[in-house]
Amino acid sequence: MTSPLPATFNLRAYQPEDLPAVVALFQASVSQLTTEHYDAAQRQAWSPEVADLQAWQTRFASIELLIAEDGCAIAGFIGYSLDGHIDLLFTAPGFARQGVASALYAAAEQRLRAAGVRELHTEASLVAQAFFAGQGFSVQQAQTVTRGAVILPRMLMGKILEPR
Ligand SMILES: CC(C)(COP(=O)(O)OP(=O)(O)OC[C@H]1O[C@@H](n2cnc3c(N)ncnc32)[C@H](O)[C@@H]1OP(=O)(O)O)[C@@H](O)C(=O)NCCC(=O)NCCS
Repeated sequence: MTSPLPATFNLRAYQPEDLPAVVALFQASVSQLTTEHYDAAQRQAWSPEVADLQAWQTRFASIELLIAEDGCAIAGFIGYSLDGHIDLLFTAPGFARQGVASALYAAAEQRLRAAGVRELHTEASLVAQAFFAGQGFSVQQAQTVTRGAVILPRMLMGKILEPR
């Protein structure tokens, strides 16, 4: 019996025409991959049913965005800024636990190192906390975000990039 090969994903820069697919992936990811830690009201507050595409477009314009693709399907994306902030990291439900976020994070970290960044931080969801811990981040502070009447817990996490 042969063991399955590890999945490989093509990584590329975000293009403006990716906007609807990336936002749809975000909505599916929040709705399906966070149920263990966030209830329906919290998921709805995090990702309203009708997304504000204009707001997303503005947000995406101010950060670096990398897309992971499997064939022509978008499997995940990461957003970060060159001050070391990992802003967004989302995997499509059908690609969860196949190394998509790991591949995206590795590429982003490599780019941030090359840009001279020495310290990373992220506001990790409770779902992503274990992922970031596995990447060498440690919890700096428990935080909450308030959206209307709903409170979402998250963790401020950081990582020092040691020279290689
Ligand atoms: C967190 C998230 C990005 C991880 O994406 P992924 O592509 O499934 O992650 P990977 O396959 O690269 O996982 C690598 C390792 O991280 C850890 N990990 C990933 N997801 C995990 C989870 N839900 N629970 C516990 N550990 C997890 C595991 O150690 C995993 O290795 P393993 O699968 O061999 O056990 C994805 O679950 C997601 O999009 N979640 C919903 C949205 C979210 O919370 N995004 C983060 C916002 S800050």
